[in-house]
Amino acid sequence: MEENFELVDKFGRKHNYLRISLTERCNLRCTYCMPPEGVELGPKSQYMTADEILDIASEFVAMGVTKIRLTGGEPLIRKDFEQILRSLASLKVEIAITSNAVILDKYLDLFKELGVKNLNLSLDSLHKDKFSTITRRNYFDKVMANIQLFLAEGFKLKINTVLMKGFNEEEIIPFIEWAKDKDLHVRFIEFMPFDGNNWNMDKMVSLAEIQTIVKNHYPQEQVLRIADKPNDTAKNFKIEGYKGTFAVISSVTNPFCDSCNRIRLTSDGKLKNCLFSGGESDLLTTLRAGGSIKKLILQNLAQKLKVRSGKNTLEDFKNEDWHKTNRSMVRIGG
Ligand code: 5AD
Ligand code: SF4
Repeated sequence: MEENFELVDKFGRKHNYLRISLTERCNLRCTYCMPPEGVELGPKSQYMTADEILDIASEFVAMGVTKIRLTGGEPLIRKDFEQILRSLASLKVEIAITSNAVILDKYLDLFKELGVKNLNLSLDSLHKDKFSTITRRNYFDKVMANIQLFLAEGFKLKINTVLMKGFNEEEIIPFIEWAKDKDLHVRFIEFMPFDGNNWNMDKMVSLAEIQTIVKNHYPQEQVLRIADKPNDTAKNFKIEGYKGTFAVISSVTNPFCDSCNRIRLTSDGKLKNCLFSGGESDLLTTLRAGGSIKKLILQNLAQKLKVRSGKNTLEDFKNEDWHKTNRSMVRIGG
């Protein structure tokens, strides 16, 4: 990282990774992400245009960002997605995308042309009926076909699987077996609280529980812990002899805030310094008024707290009052 790197917070964490949500809309309705009644969208003028996304992203790149992830909602459903991707690809950054894979095939050629290789894809069940229950939509076959297609085309795929008690924790082993012969990385994610998702501790499957399930199934010497990359949010594992790997993202029971290098821009142009921060800085309004967003960015980062935006302990985390002070996940960007 360069010496004049500016995106450093009070704790010395260097923020070189920007996540941009392109839209609050989605073609799925995952129960853990969206409240049952859906989210109300604002007027179109409230959201960043393709040009504004490029303007804001360029400022971040000038300040030292080297990686941008596009999220949503579902980023691929934006009509001007191709224009946005092409413009961001002209910046000197690595680009990654998080998607639910429903319409991924539409962009195969574009991704190949622009060299976009890293995709994080959501898949919470290997059963069609369960997939429909969790996503409230019937796109299982399309998602599975797209995963196969992109694997065959040599993309680097990570599968995001949110675990919920009594729903899919018995799929931990099937997911690991599913990836046995595939160049896939499956990430089991602890269910996190956001506005409107009816979170409680009892619904969450913890890192410790996942490890127990894995250890009870495979001989201990075959479960290998693999080295985590710097700033990795996951604890990584491999079963000896398997091509696929897996990981656990334990934001609830074992947060990884020490190595956090990420900042988030919502689709309405607000900056969040943490997934769990209630406070936001309105970059878009300042940009439109011709003001300095750089100043706002630095101020926002200076306020970043050490752990989960102040939810230091599990007890703090369980407090339902603050769940409502944050946005729903679909409005933050995964
Ligand atoms: N808890 C954990 N992970 C979540 N995601 C969305 N909502 C939640 C939640 N409440 C994850 C999904 C998706 C990514 C964008 O965010 O795994 O793949
Ligand atoms: Fe859409 Fe992803 Fe939210 Fe599911 S988790 S509703 S796919 S944004």
